[in-house]
Amino acid sequence: MKDYSEYFKGPNLKEAQKRSRKQVDHLKDAFEIPSDMVNVGKGKTYYIHTYGCQANERDGETLAGIFEMMGYTPAKEIEDADVILLNTCAIRENAEEKVFGKVGYVKNLKKKNPNLIFGLCGCMAQEEVVIKRILEKHPHIDLIFGTHNIHRLPTLLKEAMFNKEMVVEVWSKEGDVIENTPVTRANGHKAWVNIMYGCNKFCTYCIVPYTRGKERSRLMSDIIDEVKGLKEDGYQEITLLGQNVNSYGKDLEEDYDFATLLEEVAKTGIARIRFTTSHPWDFSREMIEIINQYDNIMPYIHLPVQSGNTEILKLMGRRYTREQYLELFHMIKEVMPDCSITTDIIVGFPNETEEQFQDTLSLYEECEYDLAYTFIYSPREGTPAAKMQDNVPFEQKQDRLERLNEVVKEKALKQNQRFLNQIVDVLVDGPSKRDETMMTGYTAHQKLINFKGRKEDIGKIVPVKVTEVKTWALKGEQVD
Ligand code: 5AD
Ligand code: SF4
Repeated sequence: MKDYSEYFKGPNLKEAQKRSRKQVDHLKDAFEIPSDMVNVGKGKTYYIHTYGCQANERDGETLAGIFEMMGYTPAKEIEDADVILLNTCAIRENAEEKVFGKVGYVKNLKKKNPNLIFGLCGCMAQEEVVIKRILEKHPHIDLIFGTHNIHRLPTLLKEAMFNKEMVVEVWSKEGDVIENTPVTRANGHKAWVNIMYGCNKFCTYCIVPYTRGKERSRLMSDIIDEVKGLKEDGYQEITLLGQNVNSYGKDLEEDYDFATLLEEVAKTGIARIRFTTSHPWDFSREMIEIINQYDNIMPYIHLPVQSGNTEILKLMGRRYTREQYLELFHMIKEVMPDCSITTDIIVGFPNETEEQFQDTLSLYEECEYDLAYTFIYSPREGTPAAKMQDNVPFEQKQDRLERLNEVVKEKALKQNQRFLNQIVDVLVDGPSKRDETMMTGYTAHQKLINFKGRKEDIGKIVPVKVTEVKTWALKGEQVD
C-alpha cells in the first residue's frame, strides 16, 4: 500500500476524547479564500449530499456558501457536478453503509469524468476506522476533511486540484469558533442557527462527542445579530441548534445560559423559534417558564429519553433516572399542558432484558409522546458501549423495535386527535410532493399538515382548520 503518512493529517479518537479547559476564541477573520481560488469555480458546479442531523444540514449550507463565494453554482444532479462532496453522518452503522454505497456510485462517475473532484467530509471523516477503509478500498477520493476543518475548504480544494494524491485534513481537536464563514441557506423562510458546537456528555453509545469535539458556545451577541438579520431578510422561523442546547453558555466567561438566550432571541420578535436538542439533565424550570411566556417560542420540545429503565440509563451514561426524567416531563406538562413532546429511544442496548425493555414501554404509555425516533442500538468503535458484551440477539432487538413502534403509532394518532376541528397556525412550506393541489407546512406544535391553500402564501403563516387526523399528519383547509 502507498505510504500516505507524509501529508496525512488523520483523526485520532483518543485525542478527540480529551477536553481541555482552554477557552475557545470567537474568530471573526479566520475564514479566507486564497486569491487564486476566488474565481476558480466560474462556469463550474458543485453538488453536496448531506446525511444525518440538522447540524450537518447547517454545515452543508456553510459549504455551499463557500463554494458560491469561489464562483461555483449548484449542480441540479450529482451526475452533472464538477465537485461532489459527501457530508457524512456517523451516528449508526446503517448511516455509514449508505455513504459507502454512494462512494461506489461516485467512483463510476469519476471513471467517466476524470476531472471530477470527489470529497468526503462530516462526522465519518473524524473516524479512524473510516479513514483506514477509504485508504484501503477507495483511493479515488480526492479530498477528506473533518468537521473542524470546514472553513479550510478553499485551501484544501486548491491542494486537491493541483495534487494528484489524496488530500486528508482532519483535526481531532476542535478549533475555535469561526464566525465569518458564508452561508447559502437551503430554505427561504426557515433557518438553522447554530448556538453551540460539540458535546461533553459522552453517553456511552454515542460517537458525537468524538466527531464534533468539546462544547463551544457562540457569543450571544453573534447569535442575536444573526437572528435579527434573518428577520430582516423575511425569515419566519429559526431553529437554534446544538447537540445539547441546555448547556449553552456554560463554557463562556459571560454570565448567561440557555434561558437568557431564549429570552433574548424571543425579544427580537422573529415569528417562530424552535430549538433542538435538549438533554434532560440540565433542563431548568426557568427554561420551561420562558418557553411558556413567549408566544413566539413554539410549544414543542424534543426531549430524548433513550430508555425507561434506570439501570440501562446508568449504563448509557445518561445522568438521570427514570423517575428524574418523569419528574421533568410532568413539570413541563404542568406548566404547559398543551406542549408537544417528542423523544428518541434506543432499543437493544447491550444486555437489555425483556423486563428492562418493558420499562421503556411503560414509560412511553405514561408520557404518550407526540412522536418518537426509535433506533436499534448500533455499536460505534471507540465508544465505551462498543466494548460491552452483548447477549441480545439481533432478531430480539428488531422485535422490540417493532413492538415499540406500535405504541409510537398509537400515541401519535392520539396526540394528533387533539387538534381535530381546531384552527391552527401553519407556516406554509410549499405544494405537497404527493399532491400538487395541496399545500404542506408545520403547525406551531410541529405537526405536519397537508391542506387546501394558496401558492401565494408559501413562506407565510396562515390559519388552517384541521378537518382530518392521521397518524403521521393532519389534513385541513386554509380559512382566510
Ligand atoms: N445506536 C443507536 N442509536 C444511537 N443514537 C445515538 N447513538 C446511537 C447508537 N450508537 C440515537 C440516540 C440519539 C439520536 C440522535 O440517535 O437516540 O438521541
Ligand atoms: Fe450523543 Fe449523548 Fe451528546 Fe446526545 S448528549 S450527542 S446522545 S453524547
